[in-house]
Amino acid sequence: MFQSNLLAGEVVLITGGGTGLGRAMAERMGALGAKVGVVGRREDPLRETVEAIASAGGTAAWARCDVRDPQSVAAATDAIEAALGPVTALVNNAAGNFLACAEDLSANAFDAVVKIVLHGTFHCTSDLGRRWIARGSKGQVLSIVTTYAWTGSAFVLPSACAKAGVLVMTRSLAVEWATYGIRCNAIAPGPFPTEGAFSRLMPADAHDEALRQVPLGRFGEPAELANLASYLLSPMNAWMTGECVTLDGGEVLKAGQEFSRMTDYPRDELRAGLAMLRPPKSSKT
Ligand code: HXC
Ligand code: NAP
Repeated sequence: MFQSNLLAGEVVLITGGGTGLGRAMAERMGALGAKVGVVGRREDPLRETVEAIASAGGTAAWARCDVRDPQSVAAATDAIEAALGPVTALVNNAAGNFLACAEDLSANAFDAVVKIVLHGTFHCTSDLGRRWIARGSKGQVLSIVTTYAWTGSAFVLPSACAKAGVLVMTRSLAVEWATYGIRCNAIAPGPFPTEGAFSRLMPADAHDEALRQVPLGRFGEPAELANLASYLLSPMNAWMTGECVTLDGGEVLKAGQEFSRMTDYPRDELRAGLAMLRPPKSSKT
């Protein structure tokens, strides 16, 4: 479906681009002709991602960066631009998260997640936005949130607060920066089995129950998210801004629907049960 030059001319900076979904997006966008800059705290995964893109014929660069620190963000962006040219699109993908009871969270624990997800997204978006405005060039921001950005979620309070903030940042800047030709969109993924997320949030014995929550019956594949992100950043999608696209196999809808648990039964069994609930014809008259 995608031509191999779909993203030619784009220079995409992906935070947390060395692992998981960030790496999947980096590799896919590299294969579609974008020059890709990956940034994060650990050098090894960044270097490996750049090598994978280069060995597939693409162009990529990496820089160490802590998104919590605006100076580190500026220095990393300078390094990526020196290697690849002016960045045209930012993917805010870096995140931190863990499961904890809210009443057990220290102030430091709340900060540890919110400073990566909300403050980090602000620092990167602000840095690139100022560059684009100063240059008079267009730009795009794509932020990876989650479906609980609008429902909230028990046991991941700092992440829920931070992702909600990122979603509102996306919608606010979509309007405020449209005048500069800067568009801001988001993707809300459901469960994707990455090492970073599943090791912290999904014990192996919870897989079956988690799968039951997904109407389409499986977890997402990182390549599917990478395809959606590539389309969203492509010239085929030039009029969308302030939008958040859910990619979750229907999970968030099922969680909110009154009778959705009925889909857990085999359909024949369910039909038989429904037939028993139906009043006999004679009782209607
Ligand atoms: C309670 C915890 C904790 C836990 C850390 N803390 N882990 N509290 N339960 N499991 C507390 C510590 O005690 C400390 O507080 C404070 O948080 C900071 O801890 P550090 O270990 O110093 O933090 P830091 O080194 O900054 O690491 C940040 C991190 C870490 C978020 C804790 O996990 C990380 O670097 N993660 C990056 C990758 C990641 O999380 N990927 C998953 C994204 S998945 P005190 O008071 O003791 O000093 C995702 C999916 C969303 O977002 C949707 C899923 C459906
Ligand atoms: P992941 O592999 O753990 O990705 C997180 C990335 O963020 C890592 O590469 C990490 O690299 C980077 N990072 C963390 N703190 C950073 C900091 N201070 N500065 C710079 N980079 C930092 O997990 P993932 O599953 O791929 O998650 C990617 C995105 O998808 C996240 O936004 C997550 O919230 C979202 N998401 C995932 C799922 C899922 O099921 N997988 C579901 C919903 C949303 P370093 O540690 O080297 O810095």
